Amino acid sequence: MRPLTSLTKTSAFSTSSSSYAPINVKNITVFGSGLMGAGIVQVAAQNAFNVTMVDLNTEALKKGQDIINSSLKRVAKKQFPDDAEKQKEYIDKTLAQIKTSTDSEAASKDADLIIEAIVENLKTKQQLFAMLDKVAPEHTLFCSNTSSLPIADIAKATKRSDRFGGLHFFNPVPQMKLVEVIRTESTSQDSFDSLVDVCNRMKKTPVSCKDTPGFIVNRLLVPYMMESLRIVERGEATPQDVDIAMKLGAGFPMGPFELADFVGLDTMKFIVDGWRKDGKIDANLVAPVKLLDDLVAQGHLGRKSGKGFYPYQGVGGKQ
Ligand SMILES: NC(=O)c1ccc[n+]([C@@H]2O[C@H](COP(=O)([O-])OP(=O)(O)OC[C@H]3O[C@@H](n4cnc5c(N)ncnc54)[C@H](O)[C@@H]3O)[C@@H](O)[C@H]2O)c1
Repeated sequence: MRPLTSLTKTSAFSTSSSSYAPINVKNITVFGSGLMGAGIVQVAAQNAFNVTMVDLNTEALKKGQDIINSSLKRVAKKQFPDDAEKQKEYIDKTLAQIKTSTDSEAASKDADLIIEAIVENLKTKQQLFAMLDKVAPEHTLFCSNTSSLPIADIAKATKRSDRFGGLHFFNPVPQMKLVEVIRTESTSQDSFDSLVDVCNRMKKTPVSCKDTPGFIVNRLLVPYMMESLRIVERGEATPQDVDIAMKLGAGFPMGPFELADFVGLDTMKFIVDGWRKDGKIDANLVAPVKLLDDLVAQGHLGRKSGKGFYPYQGVGGKQ
């Protein structure tokens, strides 16, 4: 097992103690087999966890399996170039770690850790966790991959807020190294340590953050992307010039408009609308931008719809 990072020593804002010892997580159940859920399942399986992927129906599970199959092929090719046999061995071994299910209760009964990556809706997440709280073992850790909802609000639906935290993975999960590990006022140190340990064993780099809007990355990125939109809306520069400027002048790998198209313009709008309602961050940072609202209303959502600030070759295609 890889050692815990120095994060485990950061007890500055751990306000609760727990009678539950840190857990050596072996079995992980992931709810949601979409873009994020499938990625989390794949990375967990690649790193020898026993994983169960759960979704509402077999069609949704099939989409998740397709995402995993094509991503695993790329990983295997990269890991064992020119050795088809080893590639196949690696793929088969990884897939053998994964079970799928549409039965939430059965899928949770052996879980040490449940990671939720379902639709970004507070009520739906709360309903899922309220049910899981009744059927999952006492020791099972719960966490959400939410991008914009307070973890404490989701945890309220359960009686295990000391064993509840956030694991915020980034898209695409197999490539992105970072995981933000979110601890609420109630998350115990032991639970936090166990979540950090899981990230390390998935060969990710965990950082710790309190339960604040956008955590670290989105709290900085979203206002920056909104300000980029305002520059364009005021007619000061084109999206292309802003993107070139940030790549060549600030060393960013993608410009803000390329990034917005990648993330999804509807997702961006959903996040800023939510933060505005929530009132926890400066309203000027998330003031509406007509350009964004209009594109979303027209169904131009970025890469996933084939058009956003840039055109793409088909849905999800290249620019
Ligand atoms: N897409 C991103 O870039 C990104 C990045 C970080 C975090 N997130 C967060 O991850 C979560 C999932 O996002 P996504 O992009 O993978 O969504 P997605 O729409 O691709 O997938 C969501 C999946 O959840 C399933 N689902 C809905 N209700 C369910 C239930 N009760 N039980 C089991 N499955 C259920 C849906 O059928 C769907 O397959 C969201 O909370 C989102 O905020 C997304």
